[in-house]
Amino acid sequence: MQIIVSEGYEELCKAAAKVVAKTINSKPNAVLGLATGSTPLALYKELIRMHKEDGLDFSQVTTFNLDEYVGLPKTHYQSYHYFMHENLFKHINVPQQNIYIPSGTTDNYEAFCDWYERRIKECGGVDLQVLGIGSDGHIAFNEPSSSLGSRTRIKTLARQTIQDNARFFDKIQDVPIYAITMGVGTILEARTIILLASGKGKAPAIAGAIEGPVTSMNTASALQLHPDTIFFLDRDAASELKMIDYYLWIQEKAPSFPRGN
Ligand code: GLP
Repeated sequence: MQIIVSEGYEELCKAAAKVVAKTINSKPNAVLGLATGSTPLALYKELIRMHKEDGLDFSQVTTFNLDEYVGLPKTHYQSYHYFMHENLFKHINVPQQNIYIPSGTTDNYEAFCDWYERRIKECGGVDLQVLGIGSDGHIAFNEPSSSLGSRTRIKTLARQTIQDNARFFDKIQDVPIYAITMGVGTILEARTIILLASGKGKAPAIAGAIEGPVTSMNTASALQLHPDTIFFLDRDAASELKMIDYYLWIQEKAPSFPRGN
């Protein structure tokens, strides 16, 4: 694992955007795994800027989103379809037919989940997966007790997650209870993973993910098993890490030769 600590939120998103740009520049037809939530917003803003000002080209890129609320139509202002189009896709040149987001309104979820898994494989697998983290340590919507080998499926959201996400809806009763989500096993197959976290509210989840045991009680801890994961954190999100001095030391003394993770 690599842990990069930045002073603030904007800075960590800019550092993460450089990794995304590097992936696309070295492989123009890269497959990106994308996340929603408030955390990647500044990352997407920076990618839009890079597209408009530096010519970052998404014309051959394919994207797979992590998850979607069950029951929300694509046009709903809180659907992840709507979020992705508003905050990224409509500002860049990724072809419409290369965009995959789980359906929240299919009439056959099982078949859809199987197809989604198959489609990821047919496209060559995810080269770079972007993740946020829930306050209970979830990645995508893999709530505590999710199997660390899980695949794309329907999950029942934890009460904590419903409460956390209620801020985006008019009232808490409007937050869907179910979501369709890539599994932890699906996510772990990405070649490189970047997880972004900002703010004190994420500090316990981040401490559990990086320094806790690998446990389904914090599904981000499964990333300890992944060979190429980078955590982009701000000071607040990193504030409960016991080994923070070591991580900052590594960052400061970064060798110029390639090394393992
Ligand atoms: C939702 C999403 C996750 C995201 C999490 C954190 O639960 N399914 O992918 O990481 O929210 O969101 P935020 O970045 O708004 O804190």
